[in-house]
Order: sequence, then structure tokens, then C-alpha cells
Amino acid sequence: MSLFRTKSLAAFLPGEGEPQLARTLTATNLVLLGIGAIIGAGIFVLTGTAAAQYAGPAIALSFILAGSGCLFAGLCYAEFASMIPAAGSAYTYGYATLGELIAWIIGWDLILEYLFAASTVAVGWSGYFTAFLAELGLHLPPALAGAPLDVVGTHTLVRSALCVDPATGGIAMDAVSRTAVAIGDCAAQGFTVTAGIINLPAMVLVLLLTGLLILGIQESARFNNIIVFVKVAIVLLVIGFGIKYVDTANWHPFIPANTGTFGEFGLSGVLRGAGVIFFAYIGFDAVSTAAQEAKNPQRDLPIGILGSLAICTLLYIAMALVMTGIAPYQELNVPHPVFVAIEKAGPALAWLGYLVNIGAIAGLASVVLVMLMGQPRIFYAMSRDGLLPPLFGRVHPKFQTPWVATVITGSVAALIAGLFPIGLLGELVSIGTLLAFVIVCGGILVLRRVQPDLPRPFRTPWVPVVPVLGILVCGYLMSGLPRDTWIRLLVWMGLGMVIYFGYGMRHSVLARRGGEGSSAP
Ligand code: ALA
Repeated sequence: MSLFRTKSLAAFLPGEGEPQLARTLTATNLVLLGIGAIIGAGIFVLTGTAAAQYAGPAIALSFILAGSGCLFAGLCYAEFASMIPAAGSAYTYGYATLGELIAWIIGWDLILEYLFAASTVAVGWSGYFTAFLAELGLHLPPALAGAPLDVVGTHTLVRSALCVDPATGGIAMDAVSRTAVAIGDCAAQGFTVTAGIINLPAMVLVLLLTGLLILGIQESARFNNIIVFVKVAIVLLVIGFGIKYVDTANWHPFIPANTGTFGEFGLSGVLRGAGVIFFAYIGFDAVSTAAQEAKNPQRDLPIGILGSLAICTLLYIAMALVMTGIAPYQELNVPHPVFVAIEKAGPALAWLGYLVNIGAIAGLASVVLVMLMGQPRIFYAMSRDGLLPPLFGRVHPKFQTPWVATVITGSVAALIAGLFPIGLLGELVSIGTLLAFVIVCGGILVLRRVQPDLPRPFRTPWVPVVPVLGILVCGYLMSGLPRDTWIRLLVWMGLGMVIYFGYGMRHSVLARRGGEGSSAP
């Protein structure tokens, strides 16, 4: 039964004399961290594919649907974050409500969300960055701009080189990154060898951001604030200037007729589209990992989580309507759909096209930053509980950051980004995040039942309706992900179980204390 022992709320924060993380973040910082993590590859890359292949102009409805699932989950996160203002996010909430084993499962699962998302988006960033350099006449050797292997047929998330024109055969240039690629049969699933050896730009980005995160949370937040300002300004420019070029004929029919196959347009296409663009929303929950660094966590974490989510949802819906209004949705099936939509508007908006690329480069970089911030804080919390080695919990005496966990996260993320076919991991990020959302919603139901009287600075409204809807919408989005992704999730979880039973269970602080704090919270 010790596997289901829960930790008391008071035990989550470090005691007197223990190393503390620096409490410097304001509500504005937290909202901007959320936006920093949210707006990225999803809107800049995925919207076009999802509109062209699944939903048409109704991709705006997909954004509303996925956004509502996130809102339900976000409301549950906000209640937990205000009650337990400790690092660790869903892992910590799981430990307080559902017990150590489930907490471990969530913590292990969150690696899929944070660490893998950092690598995935870094590769997407590298594609944009390489293309940007090429515009300036600087061509990176293909060997340094891509991973040696790629996955054929599953690329939706990243702008890496793939599937240009099967008819040409041999080596071709990727339309976006201008790197050489080996052409395989695009319809086939499998690996293809590219002309790349290592994705150097992606690795350098991850390592630089890792260095910044070690130097201080406030320094990182400041850097993030600047990038967020740039990317939100550019998104607003696209919406504000693009709207004049909208041809409403492109919105008719708003929901194109289903082709006869589930998921290809019609209502099922809206649902499938929501599953794909869910990735665009990932990140608002990263705000909760900074709980121990917030000045006034009880009030400000809900503001950070819900504020960033609300702002991004509105921007996404407007952006989706503008893009599908300027360009027929069929033309958006490219890795740089925002740029293509702006190009379609004509020479008058050419200046905006350049800015869109800068917005994407800035946007994707801040996603990587916040994901690289979130992961070590979860490791830190898990290490304090004894489920990971003490090394992960080291706090830098001067910078007050979990520096060892940050170095480990950054190194692994850089290696994955540099060497692995990231297309493989993209959907794993979504399934991992959705699983965490489902468990957090379930946790609210449990805690309301077992501890109804605990002080809750923020209360999720309409419980049990909101958490139940969160479970249903997120569960539904999970069910729409490919079978292979489920298999990878199960394999990942199996590996996690081996580590837990081999290490975590034996070193658990709670278990060693023989049950102290083990009552329901
Ligand atoms: N929401 C983040 C993005 O779209 C992960 O890049």
C-alpha cells in the first residue's frame, strides 16, 4: 500500500536551512512565461497542414475545441497550483492526491512533455533559422543542419527536410531549410538517411538557453519577456494587416464536406484537426513548474496559467481565421503556412513576410527556453522526494537555480535534437501532455472528495463538471492519436516502471520516514 501513500501539503516546500530557489517572478512574468511556452511550432507550422488535410477553414473550430480541453485542464491546474505552490507541477499534485506510484508515473510522463518538446521545437527552430541564414546568403553545410536519420511519412511537427518530390529521386533540396535530403517514398513509413550528420543549430540553441537558465530564473524570465513581446507583436501584425486581405469566399464552405474517410473534413475533420493542433496549446502548464520561484504563488499562478491560455486562444482563433481567409486552405499544406498566407496577400505585405520568419524564430526559441526551464524543476521535486538521485536536487549557491538538473536536461535535449529523428517524438509530446492533463483533472475530483475543507485560494468552478469534461475532451484527443504513438507511450511508461521499482521505491523519502506525512493530505 506504500505505493499509494500521499504526501502532506506542508511537506512540499523546503524547510529552514534547506537550499531555496529564488522567489522573484511576478504575475506578469508568469503570464509571459506561459505565452513564451505556448506560441511556437503549433501555430507557425501545424495550422496549415491541419487546415489543408483535415478541417479546412473550420480549423478555427478545432482551435476552440482543443482550447476548451486546455481550459478545463487549466482550471484544475490553477486550483492545485494555488494550493501547493511547490515546483513539480502535475507530479507534485499527483503525490498529494493519488499517491507515490501515480506521482512517479506523471513525473516520468512529463519528461515526454518538457524534455522531448524542447528537442522537437529546437529542431523546428533550426529549420527556420537555417532558411533565414540562407535568405541572407549564408548556407550551412547540409551535414551540420540535420539529423542523420529521418522518419518518412510522419512529419507534421517539424520543418525538417523530407518528402519534397518522390519523382525526382536521389538528393533534393528541402523547400524550407534548403538542406539536402535523400528522397524516399513519401507514402511509406520508415527511416530515411538524410545528408545530415548533426543538427548543429538545434544543439547550439539548446545549450545556450541551458546556460541562461543556470544563470538565473530572473535573467531567463527577462529574456523570455523580450522574445514574447516580439512574437506577440508579429502575431498581432499578421492578424491586423492580414484581415484587410481576407476574401470571405475562402471561408465557404466553412466546414468542407467529409470525403467519406473519418477525419478528412466534415465534423470528424474538425476533431482530427483539434488533435493535431493541440500541440499549439502545450506549455501553459509550464507556468506551474515555476511555483517555487513566484513571489505570490497563490494569487499569481492561476493568473499565469489561465491568463496565458486565454490570450493565446484568442490569438490562435484570429490567426487561423485570417490565414484561411487570405489563402485557400488547400494551399496551406506547407511547413511555413503563415508566410505563405502573407505572400498570398501580395507585394504590399512583403515586409510582413520577413517579420513572420523572425516571429517564428523568436517564438520557437522561447518555447524551448520555457520547456528547458520546466523539466529540471520537476526533476528537482522528484529528487527531493528521493525518487531520483540527490544530484538532481542540487541548487546553485549563487544563482539559486536547480543547476545540475538543468545541465542534465540541456545535455540530453541537445543530444536528442542533434541526432534523432524528431518527427518520431512530436506526437509523443502531445500524448504525454494529454495524459498529465487527464490525471490532474482526476486529482481535483479526488482531493475535493477526500479533503473538501482544505483552503483553496483558487477554486475550479463547477466541479465535478469541469474536471469531468477535461478528462473527456483530453481523453478523446488522446484516442485520436496514432497507434504507434500509444505503443511508444506504453514502452516509455514500462521503462519508467523499471526505474521506479529499481530505484525510486527504495529511496523514497516518504517510505524511509515510515509514513510520516503519509496520511491523506
Ligand atoms: N505550444 C508549443 C508550440 O506550439 C509547444 O511550439
